[in-house]
Amino acid sequence: MQISLTRPDDWHLHLRDGAALATVLPHTARQFARAIVMPNLRPPVSTVAAAGEYRQRIIAALPPAMAFEPLMTLYLTDRTSVDDIRRAADSDFVHAVKLYPAGATTNSDAGVSNLRQCDRALAEMQRCGLPLLVHGEVTDPTIDVFDREKAFIDAVLQPLLRRYPALKVVFEHITTSDAADFVVAGGPLLGATITAHHLLYNRNAIFAGGIRPHHYCLPVLKRESHRQALLRAATSGSRRFFLGTDSAPHARTTKEVACGCAGCYTAHAALELYAEAFESVGALDRLEAFASFNGADFYGLPRNSGKVSLARDDWRTPTEFAYLGGDTLVPLRAGELLRWRMLD
Ligand code: NCD
Ligand code: ZN
Repeated sequence: MQISLTRPDDWHLHLRDGAALATVLPHTARQFARAIVMPNLRPPVSTVAAAGEYRQRIIAALPPAMAFEPLMTLYLTDRTSVDDIRRAADSDFVHAVKLYPAGATTNSDAGVSNLRQCDRALAEMQRCGLPLLVHGEVTDPTIDVFDREKAFIDAVLQPLLRRYPALKVVFEHITTSDAADFVVAGGPLLGATITAHHLLYNRNAIFAGGIRPHHYCLPVLKRESHRQALLRAATSGSRRFFLGTDSAPHARTTKEVACGCAGCYTAHAALELYAEAFESVGALDRLEAFASFNGADFYGLPRNSGKVSLARDDWRTPTEFAYLGGDTLVPLRAGELLRWRMLD
């Protein structure tokens, strides 16, 4: 059996830079026409000039025969100015601004400590129609790590949407039924991305027979009832849920240590993983809209014209990829079977 769909886009991706970029970019470019590229480099990509240079490095790292368009984002900081936002809106390559609450995740220490300091920038984004992408977790260490997304909705997101009712917002990598319900109840300017790993795994995967660092990401995997709710949202037919892998490469030696980095690497087989999730609830017919239409429509970008095909064919993923000199990159499902295979 085979399925074919319009070439999809990845609306939330970490490409890194330098040698790491060169390793991971071909995986994404093989599957996706475009991707929203996260700005959490060190230092963060917080100006249009830096985003333009990063974009050039991505294009330069593309293997010759591959077509791929990086859609750049700016990292919102306490110092992002109205002029920064205007320059972003006037550029033809910055498509969104990313809010990381300070300290929420990998390379987020430059993030926003108090959103009220961003009021002028947010007002300008609302005026220009530039979307805000939010990492939706509070950072208060006294709040249980599994409750931080729900707490963010109440403490930050709901008040933000009330203050800026015409701001386009993407609630990134949602992981709870609370977030899915909140997005469903929202208006046409509120969308959400969902990762493949949050559709396929619950938090037991982090502790299956021992601690599994390659299943640790942020926001952390949640309990099974939340996974079920995400599957329902992704396959509901709602046009405000779309594909965002949050593929986040980290070298093996920085995952398999006493204090391991957060992030799951899924770019090597992203579509296959999503197909498996959709198939598990008999909703393969809904995959194309989720992967190829809804995100483009939300961002106001044209849909892609090419096609990709997947065959129902068991195959074993590589156990690792060479990464950063002597290190390696361990992908999700390393050395295990996948049910679908993308055809070249
Ligand atoms: C991301 C990373 O490694 O950059 N990690 C993750 O667990 N998702 C950061 C992020 O998107 O939170
Ligand atoms: Zn991310």
